Amino acid sequence: MDPARLECLARVTKPAHALRKEATALLAGATRIVVLTGAGVSAESGVPTFRGEQGLWRSYRPEELATPDAFHRDPELVWSWYQWRRELIADCAPNAGHDALARLALTRNGVTLVTQNVDGLHHRAARDVASAAGVSDPEPAHPLEVHGAIHRDRCSGCERLTPAAAGSNAGPPSCVMCGSSLRPDVVWFGESLDPDVIGSAQEAAIQADVCLVAGTSSLVYPAAGLPDLTLRSGGAVVEVNLDPTPLTGSATVSIRGQAGEILPEIVGA
Ligand code: APR
Repeated sequence: MDPARLECLARVTKPAHALRKEATALLAGATRIVVLTGAGVSAESGVPTFRGEQGLWRSYRPEELATPDAFHRDPELVWSWYQWRRELIADCAPNAGHDALARLALTRNGVTLVTQNVDGLHHRAARDVASAAGVSDPEPAHPLEVHGAIHRDRCSGCERLTPAAAGSNAGPPSCVMCGSSLRPDVVWFGESLDPDVIGSAQEAAIQADVCLVAGTSSLVYPAAGLPDLTLRSGGAVVEVNLDPTPLTGSATVSIRGQAGEILPEIVGA
């Protein structure tokens, strides 16, 4: 077996407590940390993931619901699916994993949170943790939302942003400024990410001593490329995930398990 594969197997087969100890030491010793989260971090809050056993893409076809063509073809279907997701998320609360990452960002300098999630739970954790700690400004714990935010609407014409319209399932409302249909302010398949947002995330990954990756299948680029930027700059990657991913083989430390249980332990916050 080739040495790289042997080395990877040795790393992943280390006892769990040794992996957690190594991850904790890497994070404690880091000056700059970038954190990338995916749907797995919100799973313990009750928000469905995309590719797991109960994942959204097991029940729905993304090309029918999460593309510009789908919205153009059947705006009522796409709008009602997002309204369903909004109502589901409204009943969910941040979990211990969100809170630990918020505390990390509020108590340490040099931490950049980046999320692929559109559920807003990191924002809610930032507000809750800041308020509980008597911290006036939760901003450092607000993540870069590279795939947008489901609780915001964007006009498909003039791009005006507004808070998500109240739960009308009759189809997308019209923009009060230009009359075009509103759509959720999320990035659909085939669309580009906001260059400023992904650019800031990539810069943070290049500068980071440690990239902490939690709850993502590491399949969707450019977000999935962030850990590699840290590795190529000489930094370390810590992965926390229920299942192995394409990142596992190159991660410095890869820990199997629930983000809500592992993150509070290894971030020490
Ligand atoms: N703790 C840690 N990891 C978990 C947990 C948990 N409690 N539950 C699930 N996971 C892991 C799964 O093993 C899986 O690898 O989280 C990962 C979730 O992967 P996906 O469902 O593919 O979600 P994500 O990686 O965020 O998807 C990326 O794809 O469809 C697009 O825009 C969508 O942002 C999304 C992107």
